[in-house]
Amino acid sequence: MKLVFAKDYEELSARGAELFFSQVKLKPDSVLGLATGTSPIGLYKKLIEWYESGALDFSRVHTVNLDEYTGLEGTHAQSYRFFMNKYLFDHINIDMANTNVPCGAARDLAAECEKYDALIDSLGGIDMQLLGIGNNGHVGFNEPSEAFACGTNVVKLAESTIEANSRLFSDISEVPTGAITMGCRAIMQAKRVVLLASGPAKAEIIKKACFGPVTPQVPASILQLHPDCTVIMDAEAAKLVAGC
Ligand code: GLP
Repeated sequence: MKLVFAKDYEELSARGAELFFSQVKLKPDSVLGLATGTSPIGLYKKLIEWYESGALDFSRVHTVNLDEYTGLEGTHAQSYRFFMNKYLFDHINIDMANTNVPCGAARDLAAECEKYDALIDSLGGIDMQLLGIGNNGHVGFNEPSEAFACGTNVVKLAESTIEANSRLFSDISEVPTGAITMGCRAIMQAKRVVLLASGPAKAEIIKKACFGPVTPQVPASILQLHPDCTVIMDAEAAKLVAGC
């Protein structure tokens, strides 16, 4: 794991965006694995700025998102498809047909999982995967459990995740209780992984994920075994890591 210490959210966003900039510059037909949450919004903003200034071209890029709430159509304002359109896709020259988010409203979720893995395989896997981290160590929506989930899977969200994500809903009762998420195989097979951690709520879990045992109880800890994983953290998220 490479650890990058940024002073604040802005610097974290810039450091992360630079990695995606070089990825797309060096391989214009990259397959980017993308994430939702507040952590990547600043990074997406930087990519949009570079696109607007003519420095970046997304016309040949494909994307696969990590996860989606079950039961929500992509048009729902809380869906991750809606999020991605709003914070990135609507502002760059990507072909929407090349953007992929698991379908949380699929009738047959098991079939949707298989379809999503087949899609990732058909694209030749992920060149660069962006990740946030849940307060409980989840990546995508792979919650702490007895074993690492391999393929795309359907999960029941942990109470702590529902509570943490309720900040984005008008009431906690509106937060979906399930999700469909890319599993550890596609994430671990990504050629490069970039994880962003920002704010004091991430300090405890970042220490565990980077320096604790590799365990499915802290799903992000599996990234210690990835050959090219960069963890970018701001000063608040890094406060328990200094000196490790
Ligand atoms: C959600 C997403 C994760 C994300 C996490 C952290 O649960 N499924 O992919 O990493 O939130 O979000 P934030 O970046 O807002 O802290």
